[in-house]
Amino acid sequence: MKEQLLKIKEDALKELGGVKTLTELNDLRVKYLGKAGALTAILRGMREVAPEDRPIIGALVNEVRESLENAIKERGESLETEALNARLASESVDITEPSRGQARGALHPVTRVLDKLISSCVDMGFSVVQGPEVETDYYNFEAMNIPKNHPARDMQDSFYITDSILLRTHTSPMQARELEVRKPPFKIVVPGATYRNDSDSTHSPVFHQMEGLVVDEHVSMADLKIMLNELMKRVFGEGTKTRFRPAFFPFTEPSIELDVTCPTCHGEGCRICKGTGWLELLGAGVVNPKVLEMSGVDSRKYKGFAFGIGIERLAMVLNGVPDLRTLFKNDIRFLNQMR
Ligand code: DAH
Repeated sequence: MKEQLLKIKEDALKELGGVKTLTELNDLRVKYLGKAGALTAILRGMREVAPEDRPIIGALVNEVRESLENAIKERGESLETEALNARLASESVDITEPSRGQARGALHPVTRVLDKLISSCVDMGFSVVQGPEVETDYYNFEAMNIPKNHPARDMQDSFYITDSILLRTHTSPMQARELEVRKPPFKIVVPGATYRNDSDSTHSPVFHQMEGLVVDEHVSMADLKIMLNELMKRVFGEGTKTRFRPAFFPFTEPSIELDVTCPTCHGEGCRICKGTGWLELLGAGVVNPKVLEMSGVDSRKYKGFAFGIGIERLAMVLNGVPDLRTLFKNDIRFLNQMR
């Protein structure tokens, strides 16, 4: 029995030397130390051992078990270290490898122009308000002193939803809405989408405007001129010159249109400004007293001036875009050129 035990120990240690994985190690443990293992079998055979020999054999069994357990534990630890080292080596990261880079998003040219205009106006003390794009005929036309038979109401120009509801054709209706609820003096700008049934290289059915309205007791054409000159310098740069031409809008009296020196050629004349050196930019004027009165503002006490800027035209000019509609095709290759 003693020889048997020593043989088991010798065999087990020899086998242990050849064990290469934790699974193999576990199989070995089961083979020698498990319930049906070689050592356990010996213990079961203790009955046949002479009583006086039992303590000696028992001690030997324990010694063999202990040394096997220790050897297996040691082997297990070194196998685990080996496995960890192998994993560290195979999963190492090469920090010198160049990165794939990241695509950077950018704001849409129309958004950029709008942001610039809005922040310039905010710097000049204006509040920003927004209004409904689905508008009533009353605010879109009537309250802006555009009479029933005015050509701007033509079904071909406006997207009517019902007889009295349409997609707003300009941001001007917000003048009336704000005049009704605000107490003068106030200065507001209204950026937003507007809609007209028009589509060619300089018109899109959906476009954007920014409306401005200033109401106070002593507001004049001179204030309008000073304010717009300042705004144009902030948006296009110090050297920008302006030109005011007489115009007609039902909601302003007198009305003007404003031209700025072309930001591309600075007045020399180029493709963008069709050789004139000037760009027609916005409509403006002193608010028609009828507009104030219709919205409940005393036109003897208060005056106002207003302006409306088309945003797409500006985005086109500033980015050299020849066809307005390309701004809304969402072709990423096109938009990427205008970061
Ligand atoms: N609402 C006009 C348009 O769509 C633009 C405009 C002109 C707005 C003169 C104004 C203004 O506030 O005073 O074309």
